[in-house]
Amino acid sequence: MRSKILLALMACMAAGTAQAGTWDGVYTDAQAERGNVQFQQHCARCHGANLAGTFEIPPLVGRFISYWDGTTLDVLFGYISSAMPQDRPGSLSPAANTDIVAFILKANNFPAGTKELSVDDLKSIRFDADRPQPAAIIKKRVKAR
Ligand code: HEC
Repeated sequence: MRSKILLALMACMAAGTAQAGTWDGVYTDAQAERGNVQFQQHCARCHGANLAGTFEIPPLVGRFISYWDGTTLDVLFGYISSAMPQDRPGSLSPAANTDIVAFILKANNFPAGTKELSVDDLKSIRFDADRPQPAAIIKKRVKAR
């Protein structure tokens, strides 16, 4: 039983090293700022300048995060690319939509990094609502059982 748990944990850790997540600084501040400009121009009139949404239009901060938790960023990008702006779906370029994803990450307090988010990377970046626990802490918990 215990070895099965350990094996499962090791598989998770291996997957963890192969994949980046939203807490790993996967976009740059400059990119998020470009995304902000795009967002204010194409999205803010519905979702609000501060992404808070309205009674009819969902927010892109707060509870938004838990809806996308556990997906990868290509899913969010794909949705925005094909369904948004709702009145002109698919009208923005992939580059603009990638910058907008960076802006949404920043608005939700995910940290910026030194490398820009690129379309090719989206699929390998997990959308983690909560900062993943370092492996050392998980190991301690397993020992304590
Ligand atoms: C004309 C109004 C309008 C505009 C403009 C608009 N949206 Fe939306 N957006 C909506 C509505 C309404 C929904 C809810 C759709 C549904 O539930 O089917 C939505 C849903 C979303 C969602 C999913 C929210 C969730 O809860 O998971 C995202 C992400 C999103 N929009 C991003 C954008 C982005 C990025 C832009 C600009 C490129 C944009 N939207 C422009 C009206 C709009």
